[in-house]
Amino acid sequence: MADKLTKILILNGPNLNLLGTRQPEIYGSTTLADVEDMCRTHAVKVGAQVSFYQSNIEGALIDAIHAAKGTQDGLILNAGAYTHTSIALMDAVFSVELPMVEVHLSNVHAREEFRHVSYISKAAIGQLCGFGAQGYLFAIDALVACHPGPQAA
Ligand code: DQA
Repeated sequence: MADKLTKILILNGPNLNLLGTRQPEIYGSTTLADVEDMCRTHAVKVGAQVSFYQSNIEGALIDAIHAAKGTQDGLILNAGAYTHTSIALMDAVFSVELPMVEVHLSNVHAREEFRHVSYISKAAIGQLCGFGAQGYLFAIDALVACHPGPQAA
């Protein structure tokens, strides 16, 4: 049974540790711990196993992506503002060859122009934005749908 689970690492970048108190009019009042609880509960329902990492440091996120190679089936990445600047994070995702879903709580396309550019999207199988914390659950569903089941092995 355990080998059927889709192993997903959920990565959150800078300032997302402040969810709940950070600009709640944009990001909502859900804390990062709440988001993680929602993901854990959802993962059990859909046959996924989730783990989490948050850092405000670009290099630490890159190290976590590297460490996912061979241990995870997919990644969910909300890179925060690094989304719009980081070629290094994009390269890290390309280098591990894991399916990655890009998530943003807010609809970045409806916000300032500098948020319309995403380096992360170039390495993503898809982007979910504007659905708040629910977006992480949709991303779990997307990775479970992409993960070859035992019948395909
Ligand atoms: C964000 C959107 C980014 O533009 C911003 O810098 C963030 C959060 C989001 O989840 O909506 O930190 O990634």
